[in-house]
Amino acid sequence: MHATAHADTPPQLLLRRAVVTGAAGFIGSHLCQALLSRGVSVIGVDRRDPDQHHVAAANLADIRNEPGFIFVTGDLRTCAIEPLLPESDVVFHLAGIPGVHPSWGADFDDYVASNISATQRLMHATTRLRIPRLVVASSSSVYGATDGRPSAETDHPRPASPYAVTKLAEEQLCLAHAARPGCATTVVALRFFTVYGPRQREDMFIQRVLTAATTGQSVRIYGDGKQRRDFTYIDDAVTATIAAASTHAHNAVINVGAGGGACLLDVVEHARDLTHRKINISTRNARSGDVPTTCADMSAARRLLGWTPSIDLRTGMASQLHWLASRRSALSSLG
Ligand code: NAD
Ligand code: UGA
Repeated sequence: MHATAHADTPPQLLLRRAVVTGAAGFIGSHLCQALLSRGVSVIGVDRRDPDQHHVAAANLADIRNEPGFIFVTGDLRTCAIEPLLPESDVVFHLAGIPGVHPSWGADFDDYVASNISATQRLMHATTRLRIPRLVVASSSSVYGATDGRPSAETDHPRPASPYAVTKLAEEQLCLAHAARPGCATTVVALRFFTVYGPRQREDMFIQRVLTAATTGQSVRIYGDGKQRRDFTYIDDAVTATIAAASTHAHNAVINVGAGGGACLLDVVEHARDLTHRKINISTRNARSGDVPTTCADMSAARRLLGWTPSIDLRTGMASQLHWLASRRSALSSLG
């Protein structure tokens, strides 16, 4: 299952042109913005059309009219992929269906189609056009329930939810393509650990707690609230992702976490301190596939990406809160 970094390294890639799948999403939109600010031309693709979908529109608002940016509405399950790729130095593959809990339900087929089958189509196109590098968004969820110690990339994966199974299949599928004889595309799979910050998805815990703190609504906690996550700030995750485009390591799996972590009750405490508001909590039974702890061993990221995270949870939450407040005041000024 595990792939290691090769010693015989390809030349470092100079980034001029990139394709970002999932560009209208939380992480994808930040990545596009960071690439554009570094002078990289970006083709962003996403199945959510910003003219039809308000979250996609809001995520892309800052970059949609940037001269170096082209946005294409396309579903990777069915759209023509090759025309998007020529002359790209790297494909960042972030498109996919995220979220642990819904993967047990009726959306399972979409998880399989978007996380696995669409990735197969993308890999066919990327390798056929000999694009030098593909960076794929994998997930800390592939580790499953651990003993609480930091998870290293060499640990045996034990995915505990249908979502996690599709993410493990996705990263391994990319690596399998890259290992084919004559394949000119190298792959770096990044296992992101619960990413947060401005534009975080509405279903995620920190977004829900900060929304509850600012609106007076209550937040549900599934289980005892002692589950720990290695919450990773979006700018740190994006810096690691860009570093993965040009690392000498290839056909590698690398954790992208904060290397620490906090439990849900700590998050609630930070939100109280930051907002000076009472937060109403309602408790619910723990949900299937919701692991007690995620914690990243960060040595491979340090060694192979030359990267360490720099934003602590409280600072990152303050910045997410600031964004939330400015979004609310922009909405209320619209009437
Ligand atoms: P997101 O839902 O905000 O973004 C994903 C985007 O992919 C969406 O805009 C969606 O429309 C698009 N998409 C889905 N299926 C598609 C398809 N078939 N064709 C084209 N576009 C499609 O999610 P996110 O939180 O930004 O996550 C991005 C990626 O990172 C996902 O692959 C997710 O599994 C992975 N990941 C996220 C986290 C996290 O904490 N947010 C952690 C680990 C891994
Ligand atoms: C997150 C993302 O949602 C996944 O897409 C991603 O793959 C995963 O990180 C990862 O690291 O790989 P998760 O850690 O479950 O998954 O992040 P949240 O959705 O923010 O949930 C964190 C914890 O809060 C979980 O225990 C969840 O059950 C709990 N939670 C969430 C609540 O108690 N209440 C809520 O309203 C939402």
